Amino acid sequence: ELNNLDEYYRIAEELTLYAGKIIEDGINTRKNIKSKGIDWDLVTEYDRKIEDKLIKQLSIQFPSHKFIGEETAAKEGCLPQLTNDPTWIIDPIDGTTNFVHRFPHTCISLALLVNKKVEIGIIYNPLMRQFFSARRHCGAFLNGKPIKTSDMKDISQSLVAMEPWLAKDPQYLASVYSRMHALVQGTHGIRSLGTAALTLCYVAMGAVEAYHIEGIDAWDVAAGKLIIEEAGGVVIDTDGGELDLMTPRVIAACNQQIAQQLVDLIKKADCEILNKN
Ligand code: IPD
Repeated sequence: ELNNLDEYYRIAEELTLYAGKIIEDGINTRKNIKSKGIDWDLVTEYDRKIEDKLIKQLSIQFPSHKFIGEETAAKEGCLPQLTNDPTWIIDPIDGTTNFVHRFPHTCISLALLVNKKVEIGIIYNPLMRQFFSARRHCGAFLNGKPIKTSDMKDISQSLVAMEPWLAKDPQYLASVYSRMHALVQGTHGIRSLGTAALTLCYVAMGAVEAYHIEGIDAWDVAAGKLIIEEAGGVVIDTDGGELDLMTPRVIAACNQQIAQQLVDLIKKADCEILNKN
């Protein structure tokens, strides 16, 4: 399978650019918006259209490949198991809420895994014309030009992205706010973009030093993890261990030093909450 990666990449790039046109066509139109249970977790006919097209075209080209897609998993109500077979992990529109509100940070995220390792990662924001790509051991690129993470070594001088949406759930409210407070105090500032996949790319291109998010899924992270690693950064679990791609709790950082400082900062914030209770 690994011998065919050139071909897989070529087709994936072509299909992602095509899917980008669907987002461009849809951004200013009236959409059929549905909530997937929680008020902000939205889906539109465009999410389904893109995922259906990608899966259909990829299965015509590569009939033995498997798929894990956000909207298919939502429809079937379960997360397929990741096997060693070549598997495409697809988020047809990451940042659907942004897409619905015309906030122009929204993208397609497509990853190919072989033997559970990400071999190809593509993230494309057609509205800002940002095409991020990576293949394992071959570097990371934005619109064909190599990208690198920031070389900052001190979290107090860093810009850190974080999304506070989990605080909508009372169970997480105190911990999310405590972590945010620690970041406000301990960094240059917090940024919140509303799309995990693109934010990972912003770490990869050195626009932010780090990113922390939990409660997301494999399709939000698979492609971005490879893009960051190929750009010189790391993606690990919130507790500092290895990331579990199928239930990701993400610390993404420009290097191991910043990742560790962010892990420590979050641990301290969590301890403060425990001590208060
Ligand atoms: C969402 C985005 C967002 C994250 C949410 C995800 P979607 O993906 O990545 O940044 O905070 O948890 O669900 O639903 O727009 O594909």
